[in-house]
Amino acid sequence: MATPPRELALGIDIGSTKVCAALAGLGAPSRGAPRVALLGAVTVSRAALEVGTDAAHAVGAIHEAVGALERTTGVRPASAWLALGTSLRTEVTARGARGSDDAGQWRDVPAVPEADPAHRCRVAAPGSRMVMHAYERWAGGGARSPVRRPLSVETVTVSWRELRGAVGAVARAGLALEDVMLAPSALAELVLDERERRCGVALLDVGGSVSTTAVVAGSLRHAASTPLGGDFITRALAAELGVTRGEAERLKLCAAAVRPEEPLQAWTDAGERRLVSGRELVAALGHACERYCTTLRRDIDLRAAASLVLTGGGATAVGLERAASATFGLPTRLAQPPGPSLRCDARQAVAASLALLAVRRTALLAAESPWHAAAS
Ligand SMILES: Nc1ncnc2c1ncn2[C@@H]1O[C@H](COP(=O)(O)OP(=O)(O)OP(=O)(O)O)[C@@H](O)[C@H]1O
Ligand SMILES: [Mg+2]
Repeated sequence: MATPPRELALGIDIGSTKVCAALAGLGAPSRGAPRVALLGAVTVSRAALEVGTDAAHAVGAIHEAVGALERTTGVRPASAWLALGTSLRTEVTARGARGSDDAGQWRDVPAVPEADPAHRCRVAAPGSRMVMHAYERWAGGGARSPVRRPLSVETVTVSWRELRGAVGAVARAGLALEDVMLAPSALAELVLDERERRCGVALLDVGGSVSTTAVVAGSLRHAASTPLGGDFITRALAAELGVTRGEAERLKLCAAAVRPEEPLQAWTDAGERRLVSGRELVAALGHACERYCTTLRRDIDLRAAASLVLTGGGATAVGLERAASATFGLPTRLAQPPGPSLRCDARQAVAASLALLAVRRTALLAAESPWHAAAS
């Protein structure tokens, strides 16, 4: 029998369409170094789940997901790590004009305001929000001048409403809370490669009703949630094909598997049957993805990024990768969801990244010996 993992971590992601629970553990060492492995990931779909407004709904879904995870892994975790990612905003507490020097230097500053009295007032967030991450922007002094000018302090904040709703749901599901982490921070460490992080990369998590954009250059530099997700693509597809929203969602989910000449039936709002060919569906979905990207472009600024990585359930829509590459003018790829031993799907990437990262951090704290995370 395989050696049971020594360290375990449960990651929970409460999205607008599902709850995902993922369990990672520290497995048997390879070449003398510990390995982090994904042991299981379960998604429980729920329609219109909104953190903070329907906690009972989320609590039930967490119970269900953790129970299913226990049946597949034989482990019942008592505590969880929680991802936050649907209400992110970057606040600029300016000392100078933002964006005036794109070649500027960045320095991470503690997200806890009390940690550094010099930054206390500058990293304060509005009353309804909590600072999760903070950094300083400096104008580069250049090779000849060592003088550097601080431009601004920028903070990534999350709404108390999301935080309270998600933390409350986890507690009511009977789990102790290990810690909360920004979903893009967890994704950044597990789905981006070293070169992407070094050169500057945008990470776009396309959820059900929210898209979260993060810019990572070394570490997290910007994160913002936009109320626009896979349901926007569904609505645009419904309009393109003249079918109901429910039928558009069904067609969207099967588009990757259809043949060009394959006839597909769908119902219109008027209750009539409509025949759509596979080719017609893929073309209409491509247009819907273009509309999503052009609408999103009005809200986000990807100037600091040299490439774009897509993740989240909505990112699997046929045609989105091509539409995003054309709209944002960046080399674009779909993220490989983490999990070297056991692959998870795009909807599980946040929970899986969180669980893997949590085990990795716990292992790092526990032992200073060299190790490899098989996931990275
Ligand atoms: N195969 C697929 N093709 C296209 N879209 C898909 C596919 N599978 C799932 N989706 C879409 O993914 C979206 C849900 O993604 P995800 O599970 O990442 O969202 P969420 O985390 O619940 O929501 P949010 O992040 O907005 O809170 C839905 O809009 C769904 O239609
Ligand atoms: Mg999500």
